[in-house]
Amino acid sequence: MRIVIAGFGTVGQGFAEVLHLKSDLFDEPVKIVAAFDSKSYVTDSGGLDPVALVNRKKETGAVGPNRMGSGIDVLDSVDYDVLVEVSPTDIRTGGEGLRHVEHTLRKGKDVITVNKGPLALKFNKLNRLAKKKGSILRFEGSVGGAMPIINLCSENLRGEQVRSIRGIFNGTCNFILSRMDTGLPFEQALKEAQQLGYAETDPTYDIEGIDTACKVVILANSIFNRDVTFADVSITGITSVSSEAIALAADQGMVIRLIGEVSDTVLEVSPRLVPKGHPLSVSGTLNTARIQTDLAGTITISGKGAGRIETASAILSDLMAIMDSRR
Ligand SMILES: NC(=O)c1ccc[n+]([C@@H]2O[C@H](COP(=O)([O-])OP(=O)(O)OC[C@H]3O[C@@H](n4cnc5c(N)ncnc54)[C@H](OP(=O)(O)O)[C@@H]3O)[C@@H](O)[C@H]2O)c1
Repeated sequence: MRIVIAGFGTVGQGFAEVLHLKSDLFDEPVKIVAAFDSKSYVTDSGGLDPVALVNRKKETGAVGPNRMGSGIDVLDSVDYDVLVEVSPTDIRTGGEGLRHVEHTLRKGKDVITVNKGPLALKFNKLNRLAKKKGSILRFEGSVGGAMPIINLCSENLRGEQVRSIRGIFNGTCNFILSRMDTGLPFEQALKEAQQLGYAETDPTYDIEGIDTACKVVILANSIFNRDVTFADVSITGITSVSSEAIALAADQGMVIRLIGEVSDTVLEVSPRLVPKGHPLSVSGTLNTARIQTDLAGTITISGKGAGRIETASAILSDLMAIMDSRR
């Protein structure tokens, strides 16, 4: 299995490390034949050493010695089987990530991505393209990071009718809201999240509910077979959640959490009151979801929604599923 890694930041490096850590899992050779970041690339049809790639990136800031032109040129310059697309999410246009994914599927090759941009904007188009070309498109880590949800619903719960999913899909917002539970005002809780590396310098995607909305769209299309995009989601972020509202909720035995909800008819992201002790009242950066099904009833899952190795674990599981399918 020959892999190209597009994007060599937190997740790209984490995935390379996981490939190294788990190398004895595979009963066929698994090789990274190319990797690229925003400025550089490296290729080797014989296989690149994942540890050396990570070390070079850490030491020099570049994954490879070659100056980057376009990602498409790199993809065209090597023979590969699977693209692991982990470049930045661009929710406005899908960005370069969308071009990489489309290009790879069009060539009949497989894609694993955790980049929400292409999925939240063009899910059904990409899925149709994959089907037409006999490619496999997998994206477990795009929702909930290490928390298994997409493959859980579409594979383990096969035959069930999933009626609704409600969940916490953004660890940054959950951290901020749980710090506000202790009396911190929003601005201070946000600052703390930034200091701890949970929130970006520009936290807009998270706190305005945009990141959660992308995940709700991915769930709607992949699990509920809907044909929706980001623009169809009703979104309210957490910027308007005041300390007074948190205190009032606490008086009633409640907390406020940013909940994404999806069903055949609902597509919504909003701060909601959740009773203390309810499975969705979790604190900190955890992601949690309640999946309502017709036969199994309610299933609750929880796990780390982000992180270098955690997100890479979802990519590994997608890679192994592709290897099984291709065998
Ligand atoms: N971090 C998480 O835990 C997590 C969890 C779930 C999903 N995701 C998604 O995974 C993706 C990657 O996240 P991350 O945290 O790894 O981001 P990151 O640390 O910012 O890394 C992004 C990488 O993409 C590279 N890049 C930028 N433009 C590129 C282009 N046009 N072509 C190829 N590479 C390009 C960057 O290059 P430079 O190194 O040269 O800047 C960097 O190596 C995002 O879409 C994110 O939403 C992340």
